[in-house]
Amino acid sequence: MTGSDSGGLILGIETSCDETAAAIVRRGRDVLAETVWTQHEVHRRFGGIVPELASRAHVERILPVLDETMRAASVGWRDLSAIAVTAEPGLIGSLLIGLTAGKALAWSTGVPLIGVNHVHAHLYAALLNGDPLDAQALGLVVSGGHSSLFRLDPGFRPREIGRTIDDAVGEAFDKAATILGLGQPGGPAIDRLARCGNDRAIDLPVAQLGPGRFDFSFSGLKTALLYAVEGVPAPPNRVRRADSGRSPAAPEPLDDTRRRDFAASFERAAIRAVTRTVDRALDTHDDARVLIAGGGVTANSRLRQELALLCERRGVTLRLPPPRWCLDNAAMIAGIAWRRAARGEHDDLALPARAVVPR
Ligand code: KG4
Ligand code: ZN
Repeated sequence: MTGSDSGGLILGIETSCDETAAAIVRRGRDVLAETVWTQHEVHRRFGGIVPELASRAHVERILPVLDETMRAASVGWRDLSAIAVTAEPGLIGSLLIGLTAGKALAWSTGVPLIGVNHVHAHLYAALLNGDPLDAQALGLVVSGGHSSLFRLDPGFRPREIGRTIDDAVGEAFDKAATILGLGQPGGPAIDRLARCGNDRAIDLPVAQLGPGRFDFSFSGLKTALLYAVEGVPAPPNRVRRADSGRSPAAPEPLDDTRRRDFAASFERAAIRAVTRTVDRALDTHDDARVLIAGGGVTANSRLRQELALLCERRGVTLRLPPPRWCLDNAAMIAGIAWRRAARGEHDDLALPARAVVPR
């Protein structure tokens, strides 16, 4: 391949959800340029991501985002060692836009194509602009679409040891924000509000799934918050007060204090569910000397603090990306592809997009 001779420059393309992103990264480490165009404005009034609108927005933005990134890095197509693109998992229409763009560019320029797993790339974000992984590790990905734990060796080969059985933790943050009447994306809104609330105001469940399992569950927490805010629904055969569908003991309406306290209580429970499972996984996988974390929810200030405390107590090194690389971006896509590019590996143009990756 043109590969390592040409300076190890990789173009990364990311379109798995609602960000259209491109980046140029040298040798899996140095980020020369990156562009992230977020679609929050497109979806805001629907209260969640509308897949068809997401794909259309990617079609509109992908070429300008690519042009801008190549120009910012002062790189020509033939300088590239590889074109790396997210191929799985994600919204299928969104994935197809980036993957098709990547294939078209690879075909027309002769630069090799490398397909990337988006969740694994979230782990790699912690290594950008830093040293490579040099020890056995556990990996935590907590985002809007995924919540998973991995084992990793110094060769950076993730093996999943747990994942959510229902909602992802970021999805729970987003739904909690809707229940509390806050804007989207909900995670940053709850993060801000929770800082001045009482996190013991209400007792919300912290799910823990059977011994020896490192899976997560967040749907019970979301329902418990809904009931705390709106009251427990009356059984269908009971007479309902004013036909509200809620129990006669419906709680007081949300005021600013209750909203802050509920946000803080929700955040405490959601983060405990994550840190407890990580703690148990470190008990079992006691040769792990490093915890690598990534995904949108690792931008959360409380989670960052609690992971730092947990790792300090256990004598484990914590590798966390800076907040901008916690969220979806293409630098992590270009970064993780470097190992395969350096070995001369690549994919062919038949590479499929996969919405879901089975266990
Ligand atoms: O990694 P990401 O950009 O997209 C996915 O791959 O899903 O993560 C987006 C998720 C959203 O659910 C958002 O609410 C959450 O990350 N998020 C946060 C914070 N910032 C973003 N959750 C909690 N606290 C934050 N500060
Ligand atoms: Zn993501």
